[in-house]
This record gives sequence, C-alpha cells and structure tokens, in this order.
Amino acid sequence: MKATVTAGRAIGRRLSVPGDKSISHRSLLLSLLAEGSYRVFGLSSADDVMATYRLVEALGVNITSLDDGTISIVGLGREVREPQDVIDVGNSGTLIRLASGLLSPMEGSTFILTGDASIRRRPMARVADPLRKMGATIYGRDSGNLAPLAIVGSRLRSIEYRLPVASAQVKSAILFAGLGAEGTTVVEESEPTRSHTEEMLRAFGADISTERVGDRDRISVRQSILNANDIHVPGDPSSAAFYIALGLITNTEIAVDGIYLGPQRDGFVDIFKEMGAKLDIVPDGNGNYNITSRSSYLNSVTTDGRDAASYIDEVPIIATVAALCGGVSEFRGLKELRHKESDRIKTTVSMLKAFEVECGEYEDGLYVAGFKGSQGSGVRFVDAQFDHRIAMSAAILTMALGGSTVIDGFDAVSTSFPTFIDLFRSVGGDVTIESSAS
Ligand code: S3P
Repeated sequence: MKATVTAGRAIGRRLSVPGDKSISHRSLLLSLLAEGSYRVFGLSSADDVMATYRLVEALGVNITSLDDGTISIVGLGREVREPQDVIDVGNSGTLIRLASGLLSPMEGSTFILTGDASIRRRPMARVADPLRKMGATIYGRDSGNLAPLAIVGSRLRSIEYRLPVASAQVKSAILFAGLGAEGTTVVEESEPTRSHTEEMLRAFGADISTERVGDRDRISVRQSILNANDIHVPGDPSSAAFYIALGLITNTEIAVDGIYLGPQRDGFVDIFKEMGAKLDIVPDGNGNYNITSRSSYLNSVTTDGRDAASYIDEVPIIATVAALCGGVSEFRGLKELRHKESDRIKTTVSMLKAFEVECGEYEDGLYVAGFKGSQGSGVRFVDAQFDHRIAMSAAILTMALGGSTVIDGFDAVSTSFPTFIDLFRSVGGDVTIESSAS
C-alpha cells in the first residue's frame, strides 16, 4: 500500500505506545508450556503479535478477551494439539524462530511454518542447526535454511551451545527447546542480548539460571513445569524511539510514558545522549520510564558494533536523526542488519537518499553525512520494501524536513506499531492512503 505522508507544524504531546513486541510474543508463547491460567495486561495488537496469537490458538490455547483489552489465557502445559493447517507467521522472524524451538520437542505432532516474502528469505539455519544438534527434525528449502519449515516433534537431548551471532531469537529458541529436552541445556553468549525469555521463564518458575564465567554469560535450563503468572507488558522502547526522535529533530517536546528500558533495549537512549540529546528519563513507579525529548542541537556519532544488540532495531531511526546533525556519523559492526525484515543497511541508505541525505553503505554498516537538500521541496518517493522501521523513519524525517513523501509499503507500520498513524496525526502530521496496490 502507498501512502502520502505530509509534514505539519509539530505539536508537543504526552503519548503512550503499544506494549513491547518481544514481551508480547513471549507472553503468548508461554501458554503452550505453562499450566494454569493467567492474564496479560497491555498486550500489543501489532500484526506480528497477532500472528503469535493465531499460532497458539491453532495449537489449542484458549484465549478470552476482556473488555479493558486484557486477555485471559488457559495454558496447555505442553499438551498441544497438532494444527490442521500450515501456520502463517506473517512478517515475524521472532515468531518463526522462537516457535521452532518450542515445537521441536512436541513429539507426536508435525508443524509447518511459513510467512511472507521477507520471512521466506531470512536465514533459519541459525536456529535449525543447533536444534538439529539436539535431535530436532526440521526440513526447509535451501538444505533446511529457508521457510517454509516442517518441524516433526522429536525426542530432544540437551546441548551446550555458544552463540555464533548475538541473537536473542537463537538463544530463546534453544532455551525453549531445552525445556523439553533430557539433561541440562546451556547457551553461552559473549555479547549480551535481550533477556526477556530468561526473565519470563524465571517468573513462571522454570529451572533456569544464568552465571557469568569469564567474559561470557552461561544460561542453563532443565525440563520443568511452568506455572502461569499474570504478565504486565510495558511500553515498547523500539516504538517509542520514533517519537523520541521526533522531539529531538523538530521544534517541540514529546513525552512517551511507561517505556521498558531493561537490559539490551536501551542502547538507542545512550547513543542519542552521546549525540547531545535533551532527554529526561523518569521512573514511572511501575518499573518503567517516562521519557521526554526536546529539540536539541545534535552532534554526529560513531559506533563500532560493541553492544549492537542493544540498539540493532533502532539503527534506521538513529541514522535518520544523524541526518540532521553536524558532521559525519558512522555506524559499523552491524552485519546483522542485512538479515532483518529487509537488508536494513541498503533500505536505510536508500530511504535517506530519497531525502537528499548524503550517506552510503559499508559491508557492515553505513555512514550519514547529513541533509544536503532544501527543506520542504517537492514530493519524495521512498520504497520501504515493506519494512515497518524504514516506513516509520521516513515519516518522522518528513516531519523534520517538511513537504510530503510518498511511501510505498507504508502498511508495514502495523507490523510493530498499530497506532503509529493516529499518533503521527496527533503530533501534527498527516497520512493519506493512496492505493491498495503495493
Ligand atoms: C528479538 C530479537 C532481535 C530483534 C528482534 C526481536 C526478540 O533479533 O532484532 O526485533 O524478540 O528476541 P535477533 O535475535 O535476530 O538479534
């Protein structure tokens, strides 16, 4: 779908964003393992999360929606039903990879997982290889690397596995499989990644522990019975980042409330601060944060890939902010960006170029040398390649530079941020949906 996004005078606002996507996925997936019922408050209604909702329902989970948006779930305690059809994960890499780990030990059932064109291009060997070492039976195109994947539930044994890429999805898939395997499964990571799976499994009473050995974290998990507990999903920092950026690069003040800023999710805040961002970050009393951003004079920044997992999803919007700074910014050590919903090194650079931003690619990153055009001139055209974070970055940059931008693939925003368009209008922008052909 094409949309024309038009800038208006930015209006300062206090806003909230949908529940965190990573936590929402896991809140639903835990229903396959947990015994007892629980409620989930603040679940995201993003398309990716709705694909997870449909997956667990197809496997027999009973979910009731309450009037206030809360859901109530009855856990299956591993007694999953073999689904009657192929499962469609849509655009969600997190879902297909986490589900591969969860379903591999479900003996007696076969599961076929597929998704959209982007999912069918993304590498699955990173999860399928370690799972096969545990005894999993997983078939796929390209010698088992590409979806559709067929998973035949099998008896699994534990492994010790050192992550070759810093990936919470791979770590989580192995931990979920380890919960259904004989023995103690250990995942070692030398670069920390988001720890939602470990934290949420712990809250459900799983036998899981993390210890620091030398320069690595060793996470160990054993078969255990999970007991359901209510879950409160905090605001998604990856969504908040777009409106925090808007506050920095327009002449206004934006506050985003109730945001999760736990380990490996707050890297963009540090980078914005290093650039000179005026940010107030105040605890909200519920373990999360209210973040206020104000128009700031920003400097360029250089990152070398250290702790990249803590800001990997925010690179498109960080690079967008860098386009409006003095000096040349460089973002390196980010090869993983080539395996996201799109090749985000390429799509970020081509999106910025559509705005007359001087920038270019490295094999492992990009540089951004700043906006060289004249403000508000003409109508630009961006092909977001159905990548939600590219589409939203283009909309935010339009607000800062004025004028209009036609964005192809704009419907992708609902992949992670279903209220993005309403919020965009509330801060002074406009969105006109052009056509349904994409
Ligand atoms: C996610 C992990 C990250 C992140 C993705 C969500 C998760 O991916 O980019 O958006 O919920 O575990 P990788 O594990 O591939 O780094």
